[in-house]
Amino acid sequence: MVINISILKSLLSSPTEYISGANLATELNISRVGIWNRLEKLKQQGFEFEAIRHRGYKIVKEPEAIHLQLICAYLELDKTNVSVKHFEDLDSTNSEAERQISLGLNTPFVVIASSQNKGRGRMGRTWHSPQNGNCYLSFAFCPNLPPDRMNSITLWMGVAICQFINDHCQLNAKVKWPNDIIINNKKVGGMLTEARIDSDHTRDLIIGIGINLNSDCSNWPEELSQRATSLSEVKGSNFSINQFASKLIQCGLKAYADFSSDNCQEEFTKLWQRYDILKGKEVVAEHFEKTITGIANGIDETGALLIKVSSGKVVAVRAGEVSLSKGGYTK
Ligand code: BTN
Repeated sequence: MVINISILKSLLSSPTEYISGANLATELNISRVGIWNRLEKLKQQGFEFEAIRHRGYKIVKEPEAIHLQLICAYLELDKTNVSVKHFEDLDSTNSEAERQISLGLNTPFVVIASSQNKGRGRMGRTWHSPQNGNCYLSFAFCPNLPPDRMNSITLWMGVAICQFINDHCQLNAKVKWPNDIIINNKKVGGMLTEARIDSDHTRDLIIGIGINLNSDCSNWPEELSQRATSLSEVKGSNFSINQFASKLIQCGLKAYADFSSDNCQEEFTKLWQRYDILKGKEVVAEHFEKTITGIANGIDETGALLIKVSSGKVVAVRAGEVSLSKGGYTK
């Protein structure tokens, strides 16, 4: 595993050049045949390499499925150190992260799955999680933070993810309070934050992220296909899932570190205004069995959504479901 990651990392470090097999062998203290054997095994896992005599090897194709060693090679290349566990199929990456915490795995860590058979969304919904093409991952942290700060972590992650998607994919993602990532009025991703809280501190925190990456959502059940899209559908071309997952992991770790260092409030207010899809729009909020209709007016310092109702009063909504009252993206 470690040697394969080192080989892949070397090849990724200069993707347009050929990397000498002899140099790789010396660096990694194995024979040239050993390098060749490992590349042959990697080929069986979906890689293609171009080999030129006396020059070396270059990666010409990456696996389309999730490949843990490749994710780790991308992470190492960007000097990110975190433990990542990959599973082909899980009930839910959030549930697995919870189990791993109970088993004593040190945080922070990341659980990623190729598919989920009980993917969970907010408000008890199911998160459609077919195999291949999408990103399902969960971060686990043990934050040394008071529980009341946990309210805004999802919002902070949301703007960080929008920024990452827009930079990495050159798209125009927006965040819909509190946890949806939206492009062209359709949902491309969501976050599910779960925490175990003791009286005065947060024992552990799991942030699950689902992004529709290379899916053809028009094949999904009708109810979903009307409301969901994927990054590839919007862009018109597929993305490397392994590179995407690695960048998303880096984005999440950095967002968490900035959030924990308490230095993000000013930046957060600015970014929320930039990415907030509801700002200035007429919305309907279902809040503890009450329906509130009004104009969305950003968030307060605790992360509650502010809605200006017809009397002019501003109501803070801390939980529940919000939709645009005049169509567009609803749930
Ligand atoms: C929502 O929009 O309601 C939240 C969706 C969160 C889905 C992700 S996929 C990875 C992680 N595991 C889960 O079971 N849910 C989250």
